[in-house]
Amino acid sequence: MNQEKVIVIDFGGQYNQLVARRVRECNVYCEIYSYRTDIEQIKAMNPKGIILTGGPNSCYGEGAPSYSKALFELGIPILGLCYGAQLMMLLLGGSVEKAPVREYGKTEVFVDSSSPLFENVSKSTTCWMSHFDYISRAADGFSVTAHTADCPVAAAENREKNLYAVQFHPEVLHTLEGTKILSNFVRGVCGCAGTWRMDSFVENSIQAIRERVGDGKVLCALSGGVDSSVAAVMLSKAIGSQLTCVFVDHGLLRKNEGDEVEEVFGSDGSYELNFIRINAQQRFYEKLAGVTEPEKKRKIIGEEFIRVFEEEAKKIGKVDFLVQGTIYPDVVESGLGGESAVIKSHHNVGGLPDYVDFKEIIEPLRDLFKDEVRKAGLELGIPEKLVNRQPFPGPGLGIRIIGEVTAEKVRIVQDADAIYREEIANAGISQSIGQYFAALTNMRSVGVMGDERTYDYAVALRAVNTIDFMTAEAAEISFEVLQKVMGRIINEVNGVNRVMYDLTSKPPGTIEFE
Ligand code: XMP
Repeated sequence: MNQEKVIVIDFGGQYNQLVARRVRECNVYCEIYSYRTDIEQIKAMNPKGIILTGGPNSCYGEGAPSYSKALFELGIPILGLCYGAQLMMLLLGGSVEKAPVREYGKTEVFVDSSSPLFENVSKSTTCWMSHFDYISRAADGFSVTAHTADCPVAAAENREKNLYAVQFHPEVLHTLEGTKILSNFVRGVCGCAGTWRMDSFVENSIQAIRERVGDGKVLCALSGGVDSSVAAVMLSKAIGSQLTCVFVDHGLLRKNEGDEVEEVFGSDGSYELNFIRINAQQRFYEKLAGVTEPEKKRKIIGEEFIRVFEEEAKKIGKVDFLVQGTIYPDVVESGLGGESAVIKSHHNVGGLPDYVDFKEIIEPLRDLFKDEVRKAGLELGIPEKLVNRQPFPGPGLGIRIIGEVTAEKVRIVQDADAIYREEIANAGISQSIGQYFAALTNMRSVGVMGDERTYDYAVALRAVNTIDFMTAEAAEISFEVLQKVMGRIINEVNGVNRVMYDLTSKPPGTIEFE
């Protein structure tokens, strides 16, 4: 892709994906690379600008992540954030030391608005700080452009060399004018025109797929989730009947989901996908019988999925290309992009290739963040209801049922979850919650219904707000809505006599309830 590009050099901070996302929101294409990436490789990418991220270390500590000083001599504009700012100062001759007062949270920053970085930014602006070291002296050639009550160098710049450093995190939404500051850098300082747009991305991708595939045969595993749906429709627009999509219903989908997916993507729908639905529910339940350990359940579901898929692929015969709905965070989190620790191997990364007879993989969404995938989906004419779906894990309800998975438990959690989603929609709050679902605890307890004693399951309701899915807080849902959901689940779902609301944030919990 011949795009103007800004590069994020990752020093291991927790908000690093956000930096790239915010830059893309300025319509500037942006990629993340580890600080271990060679300077020649960076140069060869010909970036219009470079951003150095935050990180958990002290930049003066032994073995701390660093970069060649030559980076600052390339003539490319550079913005350092937090650790990146400190490192820039240290490498260029300034001083960084442990701060007398640690700053954490929303902090008032006083800026000199004549700086190109702070153009149209208020003189006193709320920013997100998170640091225990501070820049005690800016490097020679730099002037200080912002301070806080406890931090004499909250921002510094060498305008002549286009080097900028800020102690705070403009990428975090708590920094009220953060997007403006990043935009000032990428558009103002780096001179990016801002031509990264979804309509041209979709158009270019379709063209590129057509050229690459020629008259070859393409196979796609369609889950009905956002990523694989967008990838499939994009392929369909590019190559039509050369594509076959296999949808494996593993019996662990949300209520009615299999039918809904078939309705949209099946032969009566509006796409040319050669859609094949495999009803493999029984197979999965048999494999899962007696298994209680969550990782083991994940493995069984993943493996069985591949088996079913492979059997279908064999019937189709030799295919030239396999489509995967991998998106950019999968690439970064799998340790292939930036510096982030590998948190979990995602269901759609890895797996299939070893088993299926094909020549190449096509990953049309590999460069996109989730919100961009959604925009691409809308561009492709996929219904909004589908495009804005909640994230749903590949192993499905298998990991929202604690303990052994049975058809009966699947029925309970499907019904409870459908009621929960319906009531959230009725309350008009679905767009304000990041992710929400019902899970089935493995706990049974005594209750009383009518005049009867019951001994039934407890359902857990989960709802979280999250920006990046790496951290999350329990969402505040009104007691009235929760009580309504509770009442309906108890009355309408056989086998449940208690409903609980999960208050746990991530960490220490995870978003899923497995
Ligand atoms: P956790 O539970 O790790 O979940 O806090 C973070 C986000 O990832 C989703 N998730 C998955 N998505 N395959 C997926 O495609 C998976 O195996 C998987 N496990 C968790 C989860 O729903 C949440 O949005």
